[in-house]
Amino acid sequence: MNLDKRNLLYRGKAKDVYATSHPHQVLVKFRDDITAGDGKKKEIMGLKGYYNSLISAKLFQILEDAGIKTQYLGLPEPGYILSLKLDMIPLEVITRNIAAGSLLRRFPFQEGQTFKPPIIQMDFKNDEYHDPMLNDDIILALELATREDLEIIRETTLKINQVLKDFLEERGLLFPDFKIEYGRDQDGNIVLGDEISPDTCRFWDSETCDILDKDLFRKGESGVIEAYQKVANIILDEKDKKKWNLDF
Ligand SMILES: Nc1ncnc2c1ncn2[C@@H]1O[C@H](COP(=O)(O)OP(=O)(O)OP(=O)(O)O)[C@@H](O)[C@H]1O
Ligand SMILES: [Mg+2]
Repeated sequence: MNLDKRNLLYRGKAKDVYATSHPHQVLVKFRDDITAGDGKKKEIMGLKGYYNSLISAKLFQILEDAGIKTQYLGLPEPGYILSLKLDMIPLEVITRNIAAGSLLRRFPFQEGQTFKPPIIQMDFKNDEYHDPMLNDDIILALELATREDLEIIRETTLKINQVLKDFLEERGLLFPDFKIEYGRDQDGNIVLGDEISPDTCRFWDSETCDILDKDLFRKGESGVIEAYQKVANIILDEKDKKKWNLDF
């Protein structure tokens, strides 16, 4: 398949966003760059973009099937997803089911403590200010979103958490936490954008509690790409694997 790829609109730390022949669609390329610690730790990891695109596409499709509005239009080939072009809202919307990561450094939670209901945390997506944690009043004062937007974002995020958690648990994966980003489509609707991958989620093997996400890279451990491949292998159907000739 020929990719409908026009000019580069934006180059982020892990993805490139290209214009397409359609004014309201973009082609997102998942690169092999992997970063941590505010971009200070950086490496290139062969096949990471390939696995992340497959994992993201599958999880977006599951959300679409559950009636959630996402950017996802298709996977023209591994490495690329075709998406609705969104005007991104600079919020990192984090959902936590199990205490892990920065939460343990900042607050006196117990490692592995579960949250029912889950915690939703919003950080300011802004490298210059190092993504500080926000509250509703700061979000409103910065005019990042309205009260109504926040209500939609919160409700949609809880639904996304439930749908993905159910799907992953059925396949033997725990879903301690994840980060998503929303944007506005051409009609002003709030739509799920960006990616859902081991770069932006924690995935743990529910039997062994093995880490299967970017935490391995943050900790300087080996087996990062093997973990991403394992997640892809677990969540993709036989049909998906056949379609892309995946030989896991
Ligand atoms: N559907 C979309 N339409 C337009 N932009 C999008 C869409 N989905 C994601 N983006 C934006 O594409 C950019 C590239 O992604 P990437 O994850 O590489 O960037 P980042 O390093 O996280 O962010 P940034 O460089 O903006 O700080 C991000 O700014 C993201 O918000
Ligand atoms: Mg990003």
